[in-house]
This record gives sequence, structure tokens and C-alpha cells, in this order.
Amino acid sequence: MTTLSDGVSTLAGRSALVTGASSGIGAATAQALALAGARVGLVARRADRLARVLERCRAHSPGSVSWTADLAGLDGLPGLAAAAEEALGGVDVLVACAGMPKRRRVQDLSAAEAEEVMLLNYLSPVRLALALLPGMTARGRGDLVAVGSVAARLGPPHEGAYAASKAALTAFWESMAVDLDGTGVHAHVVQPAIIDTELFSRPGDEPPLSDLSDALPPEDVAAAVLEVLETGRFERYVPAWFEEMASGKAADVEAFVAGVKEWARKRRIARSGDAG
Ligand SMILES: NC(=O)c1ccc[n+]([C@@H]2O[C@H](COP(=O)([O-])OP(=O)(O)OC[C@H]3O[C@@H](n4cnc5c(N)ncnc54)[C@H](OP(=O)(O)O)[C@@H]3O)[C@@H](O)[C@H]2O)c1
Repeated sequence: MTTLSDGVSTLAGRSALVTGASSGIGAATAQALALAGARVGLVARRADRLARVLERCRAHSPGSVSWTADLAGLDGLPGLAAAAEEALGGVDVLVACAGMPKRRRVQDLSAAEAEEVMLLNYLSPVRLALALLPGMTARGRGDLVAVGSVAARLGPPHEGAYAASKAALTAFWESMAVDLDGTGVHAHVVQPAIIDTELFSRPGDEPPLSDLSDALPPEDVAAAVLEVLETGRFERYVPAWFEEMASGKAADVEAFVAGVKEWARKRRIARSGDAG
């Protein structure tokens, strides 16, 4: 059976489950998928925000549905996957987008915080993917998309817990892409850089070290998700030039780490100036 990644240029009639769909990248991706004709299942915790996104999705794809769920509750995920399979008539595409930041220098990070980030950003999408995989392999088609981060490859300062969760997610997805060879199911990772979303204004994090003035719109990431579904590509950075930064780091890790130390020192000074 043909899959999206085998070159079918339409999402019409497909179904897609999108986590983290109440805001930012997930909301933009859900709407892009609905506009392309997919029935969309939306998941997040904030019911009011989900309802607004669902209304916009239903304008294009009336069969779209939503679930309010805390994805950190891992034991509930097989039930969520089963409910999505039933409501959507099988899930063709998973976009695992829900995630949390943790901007904190490692000296200020607690073990509980590191574990909380790993639970939501890594274990939860893995559990959901594993719950949906049997249906996908039985049907001989499916696409599993993880929204990672450039932090998976570039280890930004003050974000050790977050970077580790995205690196683990990327590593799992990479192995999965290979394991699923020949099954008709495909794995993809989209690695955004700085995107203009609520991720930077949620409580409980340090102000970002990075300058946010060049942040890209979440629609750029949504377009990249649709692109990997169309092309079958495994990994896509947003913006695309971050790929060169990742390969530059791989070519000389020592120089890269030294450069980031210097950048972080300067940014800390600039940030304390901003605060004062
Ligand atoms: N913005 C960036 O610069 C950037 C860069 C690289 C990667 N990313 C990644 O992109 C993804 C989306 O983030 P965003 O930037 O669009 O920020 P966002 O607007 O804050 O979106 C985060 C989404 O995750 C959901 N979520 C958080 N905790 C959850 C939980 N326990 N259970 C269920 N849903 C939960 C949120 O919904 P509720 O609060 O309603 O539950 C929301 O829909 C994240 O994985 C993030 O790491 C973002």
C-alpha cells in the first residue's frame, strides 16, 4: 500500500494525531494538515485553546476531533491512542509536538526537573508511537513525525535537560526509521531553531539567552512537517541552514564548544544589562 512518504502528494482522506495542538507549532501544524484535507485529532491540556484550534480545523476538515489529556501521564497513552484510532478510523500520521522547555543552568537544575522534562519530551512521544505502531504496521502505512529541536544536535547552554530530551527523542526516531524499513511506516524529525511561540513566556524558566528578534513563525515548522510527509525525508531543520551548523559542530566539536562558551558569557552579560 502506498504511503505519504512513498510520494503521494495529498493528505486528503488521511488522519493525523497532533499532540501539543493547543498553541504554537502544534496548532499551526494541525491547521495545515486540516487545510490539506486530513482529519485531525488534537491533543493538549487546555480545553479552551484546543476548542478554538478545533473550530479552525473543522472549517477545512469536518471530521476533526480533540482530546484534553496530560501527556505526562504515560499510563493513559495507550488508551488515548486506541481512542484516536477508533475516532479517526486508524491513525495515518502522528505529529508528536507537545513539549516543555527547561531553561536553567545545570548548577540550578534539580534532578526532578530533569526527569520531568524527559518524561514529557521523550518518554511520552515514545509511548504514543509504540502504541500506534501496531496499527500502522498492520495497515502497511504510516508516518511518525517528532518535533525535536536544534538543541538535539547543538546542546545549547542553560538547557541541558531540554537538549538531552530532544537528543534522546532524535536518537530513538533515527533508530526507528531504520528498524521500520520495508514496513511502509516512516519516521521523521523536524528540528526547529527559534520559533515565535508561548514556549518563551511560560512560567518557571529563565529568560532565554538567545535573542528572539529573529524568531520564525510556527507556520514555517508546520510547512516543514508537511514537507517531510511529502518527501519522506528523515530530518529537516527550520531554518534549513542549521544543518550546516550541525555538520560544522560534528567536524570540530572542541572549537564548537569553545565558541558556545564564549557566546554564553557574552549573552549572560547582555541579559543582565537588559534586566537592569
Ligand atoms: N518555540 C521554539 O523556539 C521551539 C524550538 C524548537 C523546538 N520546539 C518544540 O516545539 C514543540 C511545541 O512548542 P511550541 O514552541 O509550539 O510551544 P507552546 O506553544 O508552548 O506549545 C507546547 C504545546 O505542548 C502542550 N503541552 C505541554 N505540556 C503538556 C502536557 N503535559 N500534556 C499535554 N500537552 C502538553 C501545550 O498545550 P497545553 O499547555 O494546553 O497542554 C502546547 O500545545 C515543543 O516540543 C518544543 O520543544 C519549539
